[in-house]
Amino acid sequence: KTIYVLNGPNLNLLGKRQPEIYGHETLDDVARICAAAAAPGFEIRLEQSNHEGVLIDWIHEAREASCGIVINPAALTHSSIAILDALNAYDPPVIEVHLSQVHKRESFRHHSYVSHRADAVIAGLGVEGYAAAVRRICQLAG
Ligand code: DQA
Repeated sequence: KTIYVLNGPNLNLLGKRQPEIYGHETLDDVARICAAAAAPGFEIRLEQSNHEGVLIDWIHEAREASCGIVINPAALTHSSIAILDALNAYDPPVIEVHLSQVHKRESFRHHSYVSHRADAVIAGLGVEGYAAAVRRICQLAG
């Protein structure tokens, strides 16, 4: 069983980008943390794109290929109805993750389109949020 862990714009720079907000771990560290959190019999497919349509294509692919999605849509969280629509066409569990606690930041980060679909939302746990999300999907899909 495969869990898709999808990451949106600028998260390729994780570890270098505003580390005071997003921490020093890189996306490679996130991949390791997710793999370690996955229960036996589950595997992780971690992807990152700076392009909305590429993320949407992975969500479509996940319809056939996965048992759950962990998604940090990054800035697209706050703007993308298209990502919400793609997730609304996806039946297994979806968990939205934000490294930072978006609700104590600028007001434009307080609204999430993806939260209209997500089965759980994690914000402010840093990279540990991804591990918690993976563990939860394993429980739900196990
Ligand atoms: C983020 C929060 C978003 O508001 C921001 O645009 C990001 C990262 C987070 O993980 O905290 O790029 O999703």
